[in-house]
Amino acid sequence: MFDTQIYVQRREHLKQQLSSGLLLFPGNNESPMNYPDNAYRFRQDSSFLYYFGLDFPGLAAVMDLDTGSETIYGDDLTVDEVVWMGPQPTMRERCAKVGVQDVLPANKFADVVQEAAAKGREVHFLPQYRGDTIILLADILGLAPKMLNGSASQAFIRAVVLQRSVKVPEEVAEIEIALDITHKMHIYAMKMTTPGVVEQEIAGALEGIALTRGNGVPYPVIFSVHGETLHNHYHGNLMREGDIVLNDSGASSPLHYAGDITRTIPVSGKFTQRQKEIYEIVFDAMETSIAQIKPGMKFRDVHLHAGKVICNGLKSLGLMQGDTEAAIAAGAHALFMPHGLGHMIGLDVHDMEVLGEDIVGYDEQTQRSEQFGLAYLRLAKELQPGFELTVEPGIYFIAELIDMWQGENKHGEFINYEAVQKYRGFGGIRIEENVLVTDSGQRILGKPIPKTIADVQALCSS
Ligand code: GLY
Ligand code: MN
Ligand code: MN
Repeated sequence: MFDTQIYVQRREHLKQQLSSGLLLFPGNNESPMNYPDNAYRFRQDSSFLYYFGLDFPGLAAVMDLDTGSETIYGDDLTVDEVVWMGPQPTMRERCAKVGVQDVLPANKFADVVQEAAAKGREVHFLPQYRGDTIILLADILGLAPKMLNGSASQAFIRAVVLQRSVKVPEEVAEIEIALDITHKMHIYAMKMTTPGVVEQEIAGALEGIALTRGNGVPYPVIFSVHGETLHNHYHGNLMREGDIVLNDSGASSPLHYAGDITRTIPVSGKFTQRQKEIYEIVFDAMETSIAQIKPGMKFRDVHLHAGKVICNGLKSLGLMQGDTEAAIAAGAHALFMPHGLGHMIGLDVHDMEVLGEDIVGYDEQTQRSEQFGLAYLRLAKELQPGFELTVEPGIYFIAELIDMWQGENKHGEFINYEAVQKYRGFGGIRIEENVLVTDSGQRILGKPIPKTIADVQALCSS
């Protein structure tokens, strides 16, 4: 965990942003796979981790804004539990490591919250996503479970989002650890991918690398010759000569900061001419988009810039046509890149998404578009120093989408459907980096992973 003072200062800062009442931090519990004692790998709630650092189940915490007190609720292990799980430091010892002296049994959490609510004090909580926690909080607060998130505290959400959005140097160092492991995963994939291998053999090994060196993967590995399916988690395809495979995978650091990197690699070690042409466009979109990132720049403008590079590139190949500005304004390029250019990243791979995408990525000056493609942009607002985000342009040939649009002659003035149809079966190419906004511009985080065609081919055929 981080130094004690980091957790103490984070909580002090948060308390200064809000006026009165209780702030609730339910920790996550074990989540059963198929019977109660057979659980998925434990993952602590990210806001609990951020403010209270303790990475084990059965906890909750409360900050009292009126008295300034901070209490962690949780139980020491019984001897029965020690028999199965081994000895652990006491709750008091563990809480001292994050600067919390007030420790109470887990079952007191409900009493304290109910007592405050009965006195008419404000009880602030964040949106919840796990069924057991939703039921617990709903029960304590006398709400129907499905109504709970509607009563989440907007002031609390905003304060947490503002704070967690800006990464301090200690966090950046931790992110670099995640990216060091992620580097090993991508190098492994480039070296071991070869015709005749089933995707699962590589995908499983990538997850293993993430587990042996960090905290596993922060999202399911995407490793597929069908990279045109954006979040493709099927790994059963045999990789063949001439295929390209999209590897979107990363590791969680020991403190659960996420890496989220994509490379698209040739199975046989060499891209075909057609693959190279599409790759170069994505690469250009990536490089020039990253160069635009600096404080004060709206990420929506960076997204639109990437769209222009993709549109111009596809025009040069005869797949798009007409005026670039008009095509972008109409959203015609979204046939090829239907997703946003990137998102915040941190303790969550889509950082703080549970707190509300619009609160994280938009503000009063930047409203979400309803246009297909642009509507999926998770981060649009003005960038600030300390933001960590992904930049992940791509070009995909999605047969169902092409057929539907062609059937409607959608954006027919900008898209040459006859030429596009010749790319059916091409797959998809995405390149993704994790970028820190600095005081004067930006920095790509992590050890460089081959990205140019020459560098990727050199490693893939090595
Ligand atoms: N790996 C999921 C994403 O890039 O958003
Ligand atoms: Mn990704
Ligand atoms: Mn991403």
